[in-house]
Amino acid sequence: MQVGKAEPLSAVNRRPKITVVGAGNVGASVAQYTVERELGDVVLVDVIEGIPQGKALDLAQAGPVHGYDSSLIGSNGYDETAGSDIVVITAGLARKPGMTRDDLLFKNAEIVSAVVEQVVARSRDAILILVTNPLDAMVQLAWRKSGFPHQRVVGMAGVLDSARFRTFIAQELNVSVENVTAFVLGGHGDTMVPLPRYSTVAGIPITELLPSDRLEALVKRTANGGAEIVNYLKSGSAYYAPAASVVEMVEAIVKDKKKILPCAAYCDGPYGVPGFYVGVPVKLGRQGVEQVIEIKLTADEQAAFQKSVEAVRELVDKLKL
Ligand SMILES: NC(=O)c1ccc[n+]([C@@H]2O[C@H](COP(=O)([O-])OP(=O)(O)OC[C@H]3O[C@@H](n4cnc5c(N)ncnc54)[C@H](O)[C@@H]3O)[C@@H](O)[C@H]2O)c1
Repeated sequence: MQVGKAEPLSAVNRRPKITVVGAGNVGASVAQYTVERELGDVVLVDVIEGIPQGKALDLAQAGPVHGYDSSLIGSNGYDETAGSDIVVITAGLARKPGMTRDDLLFKNAEIVSAVVEQVVARSRDAILILVTNPLDAMVQLAWRKSGFPHQRVVGMAGVLDSARFRTFIAQELNVSVENVTAFVLGGHGDTMVPLPRYSTVAGIPITELLPSDRLEALVKRTANGGAEIVNYLKSGSAYYAPAASVVEMVEAIVKDKKKILPCAAYCDGPYGVPGFYVGVPVKLGRQGVEQVIEIKLTADEQAAFQKSVEAVRELVDKLKL
């Protein structure tokens, strides 16, 4: 080590730069959890004047209380996002009661296309995490628009869906959520495929702990997990658990954890999927999606997964990508 020759800290060890586009319910919560865990500095972008600036300033002022030094900037433009390591895209409309995720398709496709164009022009090496619904179609669209390798474009859905499944399993068995792992495959929507066989409590498959009718009820509740919250909230959709799920992915990337998480990832071959995005378990690390993990499915599971893949394909076809 040479005394007196040290480079400035910023040159050798700058904090990761994380842009969050869309400063609404999910985006603002992503920013909050990200700085609370000091995963990096955050740039919050939104089209509504004052919202990203106000929320960023408010969150920065929570820093002294929570003890974080991450910086926060809010903006209506993209210049401040230049050189981002990760860009989380939550911009778009949320579901209203009675509205399906598919209803959002065309409006949100327009928004996501415009956002991706702005983002990639300034952050050529970023990893994009898509959140906007309908998720599987939006992530496919973002990948096409960005021209990025598919490893650097990924969608958040499975982490949330499995977190919901884990919550319900833990409540049913009256055990810690920390003991519960759960596995969800397929598209983010009503055709998602929770896999009880691969879901465990302290390593014990839940198929050995719960009768099949209860299991079926939990699976059904998981598949309707988003709608259940929309119906309570009346305006807007879930955001605490979605944001927590995004931040688990951000952390896996920033810390190069190589964590196995269910994400919307590009599959060309695995699970028989012919070249598009769908929810599968992946290894998430500094390079983005470093591996798609293929597990054996029973005939019934494969059929349910196939149905889910078809639903995704239908949406993607509508976008004529
Ligand atoms: N993948 C998932 O599991 C999951 C979970 C929850 C929500 N979502 C989706 O995430 C999206 C955001 O949800 P929310 O609850 O935060 O909604 P929200 O309405 O609270 O926030 C969306 C924000 O996007 C902004 N916006 C709109 N157009 C924009 C543009 N062109 N550029 C920048 N910002 C723009 C809006 O001004 C708004 O502040 C929705 O599409 C919702 O369906 C997905």
